[in-house]
Amino acid sequence: MKKTDIARRKFMGKLAVVLSYAGLGPLQLSAQNRARQGSGAVAGKPDPKKAADYDKLIKLANNENPYGPPEGVMKAMNDAWKYGNRYAAPDGGLIDAIAEHHQVKPENVLVGCGSSEILKIVDDAFLPDHKLVVGVDPTYFATNSKAKAIAVPLTKTYDANMKEIIRVTKANARDVGVVYICNPNNPTGRIVPKDEIKMLLDSIPGDIPVFIDEAYHHFVDDPNYEPSGKYVIEGRKVIIARTFSKIAALAGMRLGYAIAPKELIDQLKPFVMSYNTNTIVKFGGAASLKDTANEARIKQLNKQIRDRVTSELKAMGYEVIPSQTNFFMVNVKKDVTPVAEDFLKKGFVVGRKFSPMTEWLRVSVGTDEEMKGFMKTFKEIFPAQPTAQTKAG
Ligand SMILES: Cc1ncc(COP(=O)(O)O)c(C=O)c1O
Repeated sequence: MKKTDIARRKFMGKLAVVLSYAGLGPLQLSAQNRARQGSGAVAGKPDPKKAADYDKLIKLANNENPYGPPEGVMKAMNDAWKYGNRYAAPDGGLIDAIAEHHQVKPENVLVGCGSSEILKIVDDAFLPDHKLVVGVDPTYFATNSKAKAIAVPLTKTYDANMKEIIRVTKANARDVGVVYICNPNNPTGRIVPKDEIKMLLDSIPGDIPVFIDEAYHHFVDDPNYEPSGKYVIEGRKVIIARTFSKIAALAGMRLGYAIAPKELIDQLKPFVMSYNTNTIVKFGGAASLKDTANEARIKQLNKQIRDRVTSELKAMGYEVIPSQTNFFMVNVKKDVTPVAEDFLKKGFVVGRKFSPMTEWLRVSVGTDEEMKGFMKTFKEIFPAQPTAQTKAG
């Protein structure tokens, strides 16, 4: 057994104490498990990794923008190809554009190969083996971090239980490396209201970093929501992650970033891979930040389609979690894994299972046509139960 394994075992013993003290169980997600969850392939069924199959599939699994990037962003990227053979090419004004967007200095910005890299860097920098991440269950970071989590169950309305997050963070302060808040939360689509973010920051020890993942913030309408950039400006121990993969429609191009006080950015920097982001997408990202009209258009379209589909599902008697994002969860009242397989057989890739919400299917909002197809398929997979009257007749 390697020394690290022994250390890990000893740590697990200690962890069991920590977690039972917190009244919670650790997330049991091994690297192997995570790899399995990532694959959408089913034997003998369409394989999303093959281009011919992929192109035919309706992709409602990864909360992407189904419309693609607007003309201006495409043009900015096309014009940048001439730098494709260089390492230290201009960045298309990306860092300055991000800094301006958040009213911070360029020193407060760190770009990543998607916000996935930012999540990984935070993991590397603040979650060495003996440190815990605190977050709700289910949420996004937990499924990607190698760290053990204090996983706080959601409330009855599927919201973050911020009082409990504060309690367990304080109770385990010495062991907590990061508090992770996904706002709005993936997979539930629920927000943490601005007052509760403030309560968290004001209540926990000031040396514990709070990592706020705002991948879906562009889609939010709720007036109780507020992006948390102002806390970076105030110099609080907050790291905000943003991505160009969602509303900006650049998921395959891989671009995300963090904003944080300089001391935190300096702690993250050593973990960044050299030349981590591709030159072309930096130009696209800078153009995208300025295209607020397109952003508003996508937000509106998403809301309109999401609200229509979720109303239809509710009218059919299904419970749907009210979402502030470009995805929603519907309770299909049976294990999600075979349901996702049934959808795949019919050409739809839908969300995987998010334990412990094993009967809740997460569906990304596609185009109008895609969602009409989704509803038709949903009705085929879940035929309406005959009412007592119909049965008698
Ligand atoms: C909440 C959240 N954060 C981060 C990411 C990572 O996105 P990317 O690496 O494409 O920026 C995702 C992707 O689905 C997400 O849902």
